[in-house]
Amino acid sequence: MRTLIRGGRVVTAGDDYTADVLIEGERITQLGANLLVPADRVIDATDRYVLPGGVDTHTHLASPSAGTVTCDDFFTGTVAAAFGGTTTIVDFATQFAGVPFADAVATWEANRTGKAVIDVGFHLAVTDLEGGGGVDALAAMVDAGVPSWKLFMAYKGAIMVDDDTLLRVMQTAADAGALVLVHAEHGDAIDVLTRQALAAGRTGPDQHAATRPPEAEAEATNRAINLARIAGCDLFVVHVSCGEALASIRRAREAGWRVWAETCPQYLFCDESQLSLPDFEGAKYTFSPPPRHVSNQPLLWRALADGALDQLTTDHCPFRWADQKAMGRDDFSKIPNGAPGIEQRLMLAHHFGVREGRISLQRMVDVLSTTPARLFGLAPRKGSIAVGADADVVVFDPAREHTISAATHHSAVDYNLYEGMTVVGAPETVLVRGTPVIEQGRLTVGPGHGRFVPRAPFRAGTTHVAEGAVA
Ligand code: URP
Ligand code: ZN
Ligand code: ZN
Ligand code: ZN
Repeated sequence: MRTLIRGGRVVTAGDDYTADVLIEGERITQLGANLLVPADRVIDATDRYVLPGGVDTHTHLASPSAGTVTCDDFFTGTVAAAFGGTTTIVDFATQFAGVPFADAVATWEANRTGKAVIDVGFHLAVTDLEGGGGVDALAAMVDAGVPSWKLFMAYKGAIMVDDDTLLRVMQTAADAGALVLVHAEHGDAIDVLTRQALAAGRTGPDQHAATRPPEAEAEATNRAINLARIAGCDLFVVHVSCGEALASIRRAREAGWRVWAETCPQYLFCDESQLSLPDFEGAKYTFSPPPRHVSNQPLLWRALADGALDQLTTDHCPFRWADQKAMGRDDFSKIPNGAPGIEQRLMLAHHFGVREGRISLQRMVDVLSTTPARLFGLAPRKGSIAVGADADVVVFDPAREHTISAATHHSAVDYNLYEGMTVVGAPETVLVRGTPVIEQGRLTVGPGHGRFVPRAPFRAGTTHVAEGAVA
């Protein structure tokens, strides 16, 4: 099967040129002006951008949390992702207490199989090092294609780990070549503030931000950075929300420490005042870290532009407002944490980032696709338009208007954080490994088109060199 994408403006993290793209089977095989080759399918990309498919390395599909399960499974979640121009996700397989690491990944892989329409990798979220099998079982996850491990420094009494565990996992990562991800919030401080708020009768969603101050994020970010330095491991700080945490990251990077970080659209577009919306509407904004004062938004945009933040992911963690968020109607601490957004990332970044002059078009491609693919072991197959790469391609119409709404989005969640926003620019055709999955606003593959993608380790380990490791 040969597909020719004709006459589009090919935009990668490093280039911007007009060319035809030839796809044979699942790979890109030729790039050039006016390619004279017969094709089974021709996609006219005149006046369109031809972008590498989005890589979203932070999602939570079919994920148990706070007594319920995120409401998108690997079908609805990846369909929503595909409509938004994302062709690969890396989802968090949570290892709950007592569960061997390999079993946690097997559970997520079973959830994915026969459902996902785009390609899927997994991180491991480590909550119980001994119960998972200890450091050797953890190191073995690198060879299973799961070379990135998240630790929660918050959610005390549930999935939080102590600093003892954090440091030993970091040492194991340094040894095995894995990347350590941290949810950086000071869990003990949040626990004290939460109990005090509830005891004083302050039970509404507004207390979500009041009990998780920016200093709690800054402290944990700084602690994780220093522990990673002690362990000699590479660190990735997920969902950075505020200037205070960003300052720690900037300082470490300026010193040449091996620290990377991301933010998410909800921190660029939502703010803490929305937690006070009447009639429990504020519960839609209970994600962690919480939405911050609006003054943080330009700091995060600037960091995306200047490279202090490496990537923009969604942390898509959808809970229906009507019945799932409602579990915490009388107690904000029982509201399941997380926000949806897997479909809107590219449209928001293009409209508010590129069109409004906050980031360049090439930088947008970099933070949505190229850098996530590189940091998380998916390059060179994913993250670029290049000969030999997987034909994961978005034909993007930069002039098409789209109004975001829960009535038309493809997630199973019953609200949208960006309800009513009109953006200019939207994906038109989306291909995963050469097969169109979205065409003319319709899904054109069935469940199960997506594959598991084993990922390469971040770097060769010091003593344990994984099979296929890149130095
Ligand atoms: O509130 C959030 N972000 N929920 C998802 C889990 C996490 O902490 O990333
Ligand atoms: Zn987190
Ligand atoms: Zn998350
Ligand atoms: Zn090995």
